[in-house]
Amino acid sequence: MSQQAQKINAAKGALDLVKNGMCIGLGSGTTVKEFITLLGQRVKKEKLGVCVVCTSYDTRMLAIENGIWVSEPDAIAKMDLAIDGADVVTKTALLKGGGAALTREKIIDYAATEFVVIADESKVKESLSGEVVVEVLPFAVPFIVPALKKYCKNPKLRMSSEKLGPVVTDNGGFIIDCEMDISEKDARKIETELNTIPGVVENGIFTKFSKIIIGTDNGYRTL
Ligand code: 5RP
Repeated sequence: MSQQAQKINAAKGALDLVKNGMCIGLGSGTTVKEFITLLGQRVKKEKLGVCVVCTSYDTRMLAIENGIWVSEPDAIAKMDLAIDGADVVTKTALLKGGGAALTREKIIDYAATEFVVIADESKVKESLSGEVVVEVLPFAVPFIVPALKKYCKNPKLRMSSEKLGPVVTDNGGFIIDCEMDISEKDARKIETELNTIPGVVENGIFTKFSKIIIGTDNGYRTL
């Protein structure tokens, strides 16, 4: 079975949690894309009354394409559920931001009553090792790069492949990727600490979630 099938199975697991009348936060990425497709099918078939708040232009476009009612943070009373993917998943923390949408993702995911992570088996790791993604104000890059050297050897400004120069996020920020190996007990501390560096907007360590659904070859399991 393929990774793609596992992503679909994880998305199906999350779809089971959706109820009529909910307002749902939508993360970003290829796993969330599968969830959006399935949600669109349910909206059409069951005339499901749900609204979504999107964490990226990419997700917003997909939600609209799939006939889902897109709302905005200031137009909803509360978010019942947020569904989002991840790059690295352990039982206690996640690394996110491969798609550079981490800031809006953290705002929406942490604000939801229930935040459910969906991922395929390849994302599950024993330890929190990989790129910690940091969104920063462009003006602050020359100061933040040296400050991040306390945490990783080689912080790298992410460059764009489809345009000249750095990746610019949906918020107008730049992205610095910082390879780290974080122990379970330090994850929350480093998540908090990185955001105290002046000019850092948000970082991709996520330590607050309700449930992790892993898509398997035959269905899904919770971690
Ligand atoms: C985007 C993210 C994504 O959730 C993460 O990169 C996982 O994406 P995919 O489902 O495509 O593997 O954090 O900023």
